[in-house]
Amino acid sequence: MSKVILAPSILTANTRYLDIELGIAEFSGAEYIHVDIMDGLFVANKTWDASFLASFSKKTKLVKDVHIMVVEPWKWIVRLAKAGADIITFHLEACKDEQDVTRTIDLIHKCGKKAGIAISPNTTSHALFPFIHKLEQILIMTVVPGKGGQSFLPSALAKVREIRHEIDEFTIGEKPLIEVDGGINRLTGRLAREAGADILVAGSYLYGHPDFKERAAHLLKL
Ligand code: DX5
Ligand code: ZN
Repeated sequence: MSKVILAPSILTANTRYLDIELGIAEFSGAEYIHVDIMDGLFVANKTWDASFLASFSKKTKLVKDVHIMVVEPWKWIVRLAKAGADIITFHLEACKDEQDVTRTIDLIHKCGKKAGIAISPNTTSHALFPFIHKLEQILIMTVVPGKGGQSFLPSALAKVREIRHEIDEFTIGEKPLIEVDGGINRLTGRLAREAGADILVAGSYLYGHPDFKERAAHLLKL
């Protein structure tokens, strides 16, 4: 099994003390920081724009793993790339058609960044298959996107298994990593790892807890 990568989600961090919140993630062994961009259209909530990312991206060694829950994702790419995103993951459901998906992936690559596609709980793994070979990352949502602190949906595990199988059997060269996002804790993180996930996003399980480091250590051992 691959080494687990931990991606604490800044959505549930206290952004008034961003330096401290980034520091604790780094100090606890995380390699990524997960940044959720929501536009109030693709999902009901609205979070930040590229300027928020620019305000801290140079201050941390963590990989900036940017998950965009927005309509017309291609419009956000250049700004996010300039603001310091390392990986940009957009939603398949936000694209009009196959051409739109491909154009968005190509734009991310043209900006010199890694590209990911996310799928929401109602989207099948098969919808992703045509794009797997073009991607560095695949994000399986394990909750309905839009807010932190929700319960993990076990139905997402079958999708992780299907995509793991597709990647292992049918890709050559560099394999995209599988990320899971939503309701991840010690128990659900283990289930996701057993199903084949490489990257665990965790927000409310880590942030706001004095034992962040111990909790992160549990996830890093899965
Ligand atoms: C939800 C976001 C998640 C969120 C996860 O739409 O994409 O990244 O921060 O938070 P938890 O771990 O609390 O479910
Ligand atoms: Zn996310």
